[in-house]
Amino acid sequence: MERLIIKGGNRLSGEITLQGAKNSALPILAAALLGKKTVLHNCPNLSDVSAACNILETLGCTVMRQGTTLFIDAGNAKYNDPPEHLMREMRSSILFLGAMLAGFGKARVSFPGGCELGARPVDMHIEGLRKLGALIEEDHGFLSCRVEKPLCGCEITLPFPSVGATENIMIAATAAKGCTVIRNAAREPEIADLAEFLNGCGAYICLNSDEIIIEGARPLHSCEHTVIPDRIEAATFLCAAAATGGDITLKSARKNDVVSMIPVLEEMGCIINCGESELSLKAPKRLLPAKIIKTMPYPGFPTDAQAVFMAALCTAQGSSMMVENIFEARYKHVGELMRMGAKIHISDRVAVIDGIDRLHSASVQCTDLRGGAALVVAALAAEGESVITSLRHIDRGYDLFEQKLRLLGADIKREGAKTDGKKI
Ligand code: UD1
Repeated sequence: MERLIIKGGNRLSGEITLQGAKNSALPILAAALLGKKTVLHNCPNLSDVSAACNILETLGCTVMRQGTTLFIDAGNAKYNDPPEHLMREMRSSILFLGAMLAGFGKARVSFPGGCELGARPVDMHIEGLRKLGALIEEDHGFLSCRVEKPLCGCEITLPFPSVGATENIMIAATAAKGCTVIRNAAREPEIADLAEFLNGCGAYICLNSDEIIIEGARPLHSCEHTVIPDRIEAATFLCAAAATGGDITLKSARKNDVVSMIPVLEEMGCIINCGESELSLKAPKRLLPAKIIKTMPYPGFPTDAQAVFMAALCTAQGSSMMVENIFEARYKHVGELMRMGAKIHISDRVAVIDGIDRLHSASVQCTDLRGGAALVVAALAAEGESVITSLRHIDRGYDLFEQKLRLLGADIKREGAKTDGKKI
């Protein structure tokens, strides 16, 4: 069994370059089914990305990786039922629904997997695609979808700005005749990146402040695109530096992507400097608490950064409060943090973190992707040697995680046999 062994206490310092955003790469890979040839730069080597590539291959595409560039040829794409185990491997496989409907006029996919963050229904995806004219039936854990007449543009108002539903509808609407307007759409930077990719393929997608407009049914062509930097990887390294009293610079970071996190880090006593394409953090000897952090859709504080901030706040000089507004069950890492001595009280969606002087080492298990990253942050700051298992969660989202942390001075190593599947 693979495990991370982390000897805590080293102050992180130095600079690293951020990977491409997982949450951009995944929808773009699904959308690549619709282009001809795609050259995708800055695509991180992650198990979720491999799963998306494997799905593309089962649909007749060829996929080749050279470093961080993926070459995808969808010229011979043909309909196939993607194998259930691939669809279940990650939640964003649901994005292939919109792409397959647009490309083949049909799709049969199993309900997606992904992090265990509560119910995570896909009703908004289904409702949106139905409005575009798709016929969708649910049967025994599968979604069977087809179109009897071409998809047709329409107005869709989402009850909540769901990232995945916005992306799925955007992808499908590029093939729909006429104009689609998505209201109350998600506005995460990854949505803008997907739009830029599709526009680079010849689509017309316009992001306004309160709606997304898609003029569909334009012929799509080959495209070369660079994935935006990963703002959640940025949050993770910033919190790791904050928790260890460190001083780091993140190359290729974009200020706007992390704009909601900067005031929180400043409240915690960190000094932040934003350059043209880099961001640096200098932490105080001991962090101050954050009065209240509420997770919200972009441009609010991202739910994906909640766990790593919580890990850093465990040793702040006082009590902090968090409110998780996006997912109903996103505190699974709390029990593991408490094994390291953290004092955290949960009541429904609210967490109160009472800062203690120092965390201690423990054997802990990743519960989900970002929860796993939080355990790494905590272990880096803790006294003694911690062992972290269930690394498959972390491997879904962090490329070269240990290597980058070692570069910053962390004492971290991976042991045990690799249990991952194939990585493209
Ligand atoms: C994406 C991100 C994930 C991030 C999340 C919120 C990817 C691959 N994943 O996930 O890392 O944590 O955005 O920023 O980009 N919901 C419904 N019905 C739906 C769809 C969503 O009720 O049809 C609910 C979800 O259960 C959740 C909330 O809406 O409570 C937000 O989900 P959504 O924005 O769709 O997240 P994902 O796209 O799954």
